[in-house]
Amino acid sequence: MINIALPKGRLGEVVYQILEKAGYPCPSIREENRKLVFENREAGVRYFWVKPSDVAIYVERAAADIGIAGRDILLEYQPEVYELADLGVGQCRMCVASQIGFRDRRDQTLRVATKFPKIAKNYYSTLSRDIDIIKLHGSIELAPLLGLSDVIVDIVETGKTLMENDLEIRETIVPISARLIANKVSYKFNYDEITRLCRQVDALCRERAGREGEKSQ
Ligand code: PRP
Repeated sequence: MINIALPKGRLGEVVYQILEKAGYPCPSIREENRKLVFENREAGVRYFWVKPSDVAIYVERAAADIGIAGRDILLEYQPEVYELADLGVGQCRMCVASQIGFRDRRDQTLRVATKFPKIAKNYYSTLSRDIDIIKLHGSIELAPLLGLSDVIVDIVETGKTLMENDLEIRETIVPISARLIANKVSYKFNYDEITRLCRQVDALCRERAGREGEKSQ
């Protein structure tokens, strides 16, 4: 039985559809209920719906054999897991943003609001810039609007949240996409099965990402 941690939300649903196509179906997952664990013994698979930022913890601690996690989470928490594939789905970018027209006075400490303190610290240390991190858990865009911070370091997907709050991107730090990750011990013990699953999912995800890319051109 392979245990798979899926991130709750749209990305997890897209990846589940791909896993289903790849030969790992679990029809009960589509039932409308509040269950969190779904199993299909015949297909040898058990799925869990997990908060996206927790997927890496479940995999690192072997509660799941594999999982799907955003690169943002892997960069921030640096879990001890194998990163098996860049699935090319869930694409977005980690950016610095501010109110339109904000002028950075480099002689003053920059106040940075973020859910990703490690990514922000690493980025500004490469620029030798003094910063004060303000760790928030959501609605990061509010911070510069209310004068809590000068800039934010956050995920930008469509750019809509920034636009509707009169904020603009100042720099792109790193592109983000979903990664297939594996627990290090499980990977050794289930090498053939995990490798087979990984190849199939990777190929199907790439096909899908390619189609979406063509559509948006
Ligand atoms: C994320 C991110 C931005 C928004 C970007 O927030 O933190 O706020 O999505 O998306 P966009 O560029 O398509 O507008 P999320 O929805 O995870 O909620 P949060 O504010 O609670 O973090």
